[in-house]
Formats: sequence, structure tokens, C-alpha cells
Amino acid sequence: MAAQLIDGAALSRLWRARLSERVTALKARGTLPGLAVILVGDNPASQVYVRNKVKACQEVGIHSVLETYPASLTEDALLARVRALNADPAIHGILVQLPLPAHIDAQRVIETIAPEKDVDGFHVANAGALMVGRPGFWPCTPYGCMKMLEHIGCDPCGKHAVVIGRSNIVGKPMALMLLQANATVTICHSATADLAHHTRQADIVVAAVGKRNVLTADMVKPGAVVIDVGMNRDEAGKLCGDVDFEGVRQVAGWITPVPGGVGPMTITMLLLNTVEAAERAAR
Ligand code: GUN
Repeated sequence: MAAQLIDGAALSRLWRARLSERVTALKARGTLPGLAVILVGDNPASQVYVRNKVKACQEVGIHSVLETYPASLTEDALLARVRALNADPAIHGILVQLPLPAHIDAQRVIETIAPEKDVDGFHVANAGALMVGRPGFWPCTPYGCMKMLEHIGCDPCGKHAVVIGRSNIVGKPMALMLLQANATVTICHSATADLAHHTRQADIVVAAVGKRNVLTADMVKPGAVVIDVGMNRDEAGKLCGDVDFEGVRQVAGWITPVPGGVGPMTITMLLLNTVEAAERAAR
């Protein structure tokens, strides 16, 4: 039997409706949630992501400010903008779209964002909070994956989860969230000797590599939950994930599509973090 689809677009609509209500409640108390989005350079993929984030803000009533700068912007000028936004009471969340031009130290920029406005959850203070299980902002992509597991009634407790990829944005925080939910977690990466050996034992597989067909049907345990974080293009230019969707769906119990899976949930978690930042500031 083919896997059931985890519809990230539909789950996003549910969440966004709830978030609209929270925004309305905040406005009634005199707080308009505000998100500042900074884009440096003209990376076409980043332009699309940023546009989608700003559009999603409008959908739930969050005030968003998009600041675009040429790739020649200096690091000092960017840091000065971030510091100004840190001090701006109308802004509750700050997002600097990655990647940044090579002459800018991205980590330095992230560390300059006030942790209470770091709605991407990339600041070491938020990464550390996740590590030790304290409240903080969780990175949006793995956070969205956790919400999808919850939605389908998949409790990671006691399950074996395999995360493919070890980025600071997805793989590492994903593994920590699954661990916090009491899964037994394996992190695989480019130097893993026998990836299929690990994935075949997994009840939950999260593929977050950025390469097509990293996970194929022969690598999946029947009935497993498969979450595809990848965002790639096939030979025909069609959007696809890291998972061989047509093959794996014949074996898995649940699977996320690309597009319409993790992507919309990532943006929805950005909205959730921004609303929470505003709620904390209004307390
Ligand atoms: N580039 C790719 N994904 C992300 C993300 O989640 N946040 C930011 N700021 N940049 C990204």
C-alpha cells in the first residue's frame, strides 16, 4: 500500500488561521507584531524565499519590513542595520537571509541579532537553549518537521530516528529536537560509511542534504515516516526533494511531498516564532 501524504500546505493553513487569531489578540492589546527581513545580494532562490516569507506575514497580519541591499554591502554596514533593528521596538523578529556574500561573516551577523529577536533560532544562545532543553527559538525547518510528526500522531518516544545531514540550520537542531522527544537518534552525513544500513533501521527518516535521490526505496523500512527537507531541481527543472518520492512512497507509511511538504511549514514556523517574540515583548 502506498504511503499516506503529510500535507504541509494544509497543516500550514491550519496553523496560520490560529496565528491570525493570536495576531488579532496582540493588536487589541496595542502590539502589532513586526518582522524585519534582510536580503543582501541577488541570489534568485533567496529572492523567492524572502518574497514568500513577506507574503506569509501579510496573510496572518504580521507587519513585515523587507530591506534589500546590493552584494557590495559591507559587513560593518550590515551589522549597523542589525543593531538598529535590535533597538527598534516595532520590530520583534529579525531574519537575515542566508547565504550572505562571501566577504560577510554570517556567524558574526547572526550573533549580532538580539537573541529575543532571533526568530530563525540560529544565534548560539538559542542553539544552546535547544541543546539543554530551555525555552528559546527553534530553527524553523526542523520545528516544522516536529509539528508534522505531531500532526500525524507519530510520537518519536522510543522510536529510532535517522537524520541525514548535519547542518546548523536543519540536521543538528533536528537531531536535538528528536532527542528531546525521546527518540533514539542517529545522525548520518557525507562521511557515513553505509547510509542504507542506518536508514533501514529507522522508524523516522529526515533527509536534509540538498541532493536528489539520497534516499531510495531499498533504504527504507516498510511503514517508516519519511520527511524530505530537500529542495532541488531535476533534469527537467522540476522542483524535487532529497528523496526518490515515487519509489519511497511504495514502501514508507508516511511521506512529505516536495513541494507542499516541509517548505510551507518552515515559513509557518517563522510566523509562529515572530508571534511568540511579540507576545513575549508585550508581557
Ligand atoms: N537560507 C536557507 N534557509 C534559511 C532559513 O531558514 N533562514 C535564513 N535566514 N536563511 C535561510
